Amino acid sequence: MTNDNELVKCAIEASEKAYSPYSKFKVGAAVLAEDGQVYNGCNIENVSFGATVCAERTAIFNAVAKGNRKIIKIAVSSESNDYTMPCGICRQVALEFGGKDLIILCADREGKYKEYTLDQLLPEAFGRF
Ligand code: THU
Repeated sequence: MTNDNELVKCAIEASEKAYSPYSKFKVGAAVLAEDGQVYNGCNIENVSFGATVCAERTAIFNAVAKGNRKIIKIAVSSESNDYTMPCGICRQVALEFGGKDLIILCADREGKYKEYTLDQLLPEAFGRF
């Protein structure tokens, strides 16, 4: 089973694939599914800015598209020196496939991270969970 440092490393590596010509800000994410599989993702921007997809959602959708609908952990990292926190839309999407006990590892570019549950980052959420 992938440990937390490995999952964070996977997120950092995934950020190298970011397509971010507009913001010039690379983000990577790595999802650990219930069965131990890891799925990565990066932010993918568009000239129509609203069509941009964050790294976290790319990773989650990657898991779902490959048949894995239950995720237990997600790591996220970016070029920022600070810890990278997932945006509100990604928190809501994470709830759909991870539930409120999903673990979120918010990492900096060097791999240091803070750990949260989704319940902490999206309290009183809308959903059927
Ligand atoms: N971004 C992510 O990929 N994840 C986040 O949690 C926050 C923002 C991306 C979207 C956009 O490509 C760039 O970072 C700047 O907002």
